[in-house]
Amino acid sequence: MTDSADLIAGLDLTEQAALGSGASFWTTKAIGPVPSIVLTDGPHGVRRQSGSATDHLGLSGSEPATCFPPAVGLSQTWDAELVERIGRALGDESRALGVHVLLGPGINIKRDPRCGRNFEYYSEDPLLSGVLGAAWVRGVQSRGVGASLKHFAVNNAEHDRMRASSDVDERTLREIYLRAFEHVIRDAAPWTVMCSYNRINGVSAAENTWLLTTVLRDEWGFDGVVVSDWGAVADRVAAVSAGLDLEMPSTGGVSDGEVVKAVQDAKLGADAVARAAARVAHLTEQVTRNGETKASFDVDEHHALAREAAGQAIVLLKNDDGLLPLAPAPLAVIGRFAQEPRYQGGGSSHVNPTRLDVPLDEIRGLAGDHPVSYCAGTDVAAAVTAAEAADAAIVFLGLTAEEESEGYDREHIDLPATQIDLLRAVVEAQPRTVVVLSHGGVIRLDAVADLAPAIVDGALLGQAGGGALADVLFGVVNPSGRLAETVPLRLQDSPAYLNFPSESGHTVYGERMFVGYRWYDARDLPVAFPFGHGLSYTTFGYSDLELTPTTDGVSVRLTVTNTGSRAGREVVQVYAGLPGSAVGRPPRWLAGFASVTLDPGEQRSVEIAVGRADLAHWSPDAGRWVVEAGDYVVSVGASSRDLRLGASVTVDGDEPIRPFTRESTLGELLADPVAAQTILTVLSSASPFGTTDSAFGMNLMRMLESVPIGRMTGFSAGKVTHEQLDELLASINAQRS
Ligand code: BGC
Repeated sequence: MTDSADLIAGLDLTEQAALGSGASFWTTKAIGPVPSIVLTDGPHGVRRQSGSATDHLGLSGSEPATCFPPAVGLSQTWDAELVERIGRALGDESRALGVHVLLGPGINIKRDPRCGRNFEYYSEDPLLSGVLGAAWVRGVQSRGVGASLKHFAVNNAEHDRMRASSDVDERTLREIYLRAFEHVIRDAAPWTVMCSYNRINGVSAAENTWLLTTVLRDEWGFDGVVVSDWGAVADRVAAVSAGLDLEMPSTGGVSDGEVVKAVQDAKLGADAVARAAARVAHLTEQVTRNGETKASFDVDEHHALAREAAGQAIVLLKNDDGLLPLAPAPLAVIGRFAQEPRYQGGGSSHVNPTRLDVPLDEIRGLAGDHPVSYCAGTDVAAAVTAAEAADAAIVFLGLTAEEESEGYDREHIDLPATQIDLLRAVVEAQPRTVVVLSHGGVIRLDAVADLAPAIVDGALLGQAGGGALADVLFGVVNPSGRLAETVPLRLQDSPAYLNFPSESGHTVYGERMFVGYRWYDARDLPVAFPFGHGLSYTTFGYSDLELTPTTDGVSVRLTVTNTGSRAGREVVQVYAGLPGSAVGRPPRWLAGFASVTLDPGEQRSVEIAVGRADLAHWSPDAGRWVVEAGDYVVSVGASSRDLRLGASVTVDGDEPIRPFTRESTLGELLADPVAAQTILTVLSSASPFGTTDSAFGMNLMRMLESVPIGRMTGFSAGKVTHEQLDELLASINAQRS
């Protein structure tokens, strides 16, 4: 392999600067020995524009490629192995279509259900997002195609996305919004990271030295290319200085000239430009190493994989009295999405599918010789007549592509009222009614759940979703998908309700780390369907929980048994909590998960490793992750609110020992076994009140707990001097170190 420094060794400043911005909307420049490469969206399919299909906004048509389930669907599989296989298929299609870097995965946290781009993101939980994102990267890059982890970082709304500042405290940043990125960087080493449009605490992501250099490179060890989101760079010189390597798309050379001038004017170091150029050169090396292949990909095989993934992604939200699966019988299918499926989201990720399964056709295919009527549902009387005449009705509800898209947010999470009216009328005529949902963001479901005995949540399933839905409706596939985000009862209950979207250019992340289920659980709020929820046509039993401390955390072992009569997959979820933690924490958080597929009656031992990193919190004072010592409660179950087994395990901590100073409070000193005895002695002699409860109707000790020890000089009327206190603290500190 050629050394990337060698590749740029013969390039002058102008040529090096030129390597740092695009040649066109999707390509980089060929300069000297460095070839041009193609970057394209992503993430759930390859959106390769070529020839006349290329337009200056990159939004017109593209070559046919498999449209796998978008992240909203894919995440509901909770299956990293499957996601990695899809990554490999995407890598193969990229190579076949002449793409060197596929712009994904998008792993931003779903902070608020209204974010227009939630369909492109995995979850409200950073562990689930990180594990699935890493699997995607590994799969794509195994084919010699680069991934581009995006949008780095804290890009959780579309409103004013190119200017607004996400104002977040550091603990929340680290534990929620950067956590999944850190996981993917450390675990799967993506070759590129795409910085987001927004500002973070006032500084644009593209110009954010702390983000792009201190955290990303120095702390996490990222050594690839930081590419800008398309059009994210306002000041290329500031961006290069902060650690950005490649500005996209082309600026027609304008920003290259600005970089050259800044170096000549000594406003930017030549080394920063050379470093960025070397990284771009290295990337071109990585992605062209296997040579160019234009071999076609196996369209049928990839469609089958898309169907498998869609089948695993479908969440059975509700199934009263075992209405599903349906036996072949006369059916009434109602709703436009049955014939014109909603299967992906709008905007830059839009893929031109190789084919499209239509749910109605697929349902007819599995209904045998029985008649399956169809009506769009716009004429309710016709829908009612059809439902009455059938053995069961299947009503397709959901949101259109225009109602949720990249570029803007939703203002509410309701389904159109006409759809609820339609459902009400159909259910009155036909109690055996199944609802099938298509949508990219969370929708309010209380009315639907009150009316319909069975709900199948398809979210967005990609081009093979129609077949997968029919498979689940008829029991060819036993549903096993799980919600990757909470469905609240109403928008007003959601964590960021009062802080979304931005106001005067700022979004206050006031709910801090209480995002998604962390919030609903901490507030003990009822929800429509909890994080991790999803039913099956079989049942599973959990037993024999064993927790064993390991050097790297805790090993969780249990037995899962298929107690029903059908084969099925169970997603086992592990949640951890630390009652009495010294810092604010949610009651529980996801700390691990695994799937197990079992035949009826079969049982299997499942082991899930919970790393210390999954127990830690970020300490802004210490500037690092800290594991608190204590008895962690570990629960396992089928959702965040269906916990079947629990036990506690003692974990050693690594809290920093901070020396006591005059600003340390009495409470802090008393909490320390070494300091407590000495302090109590001093206090009883020096305090005007003694150490016991006073006669003032108050617990004096509790009040004194928040007093910094240095103030005792005043409170003791000089009986304890500052010098005496300093000596005392020094001796306590010496004993503790
Ligand atoms: C989107 C990115 C996308 C890029 C290129 C931007 O508007 O935010 O996700 O990769 O365009 O299409």
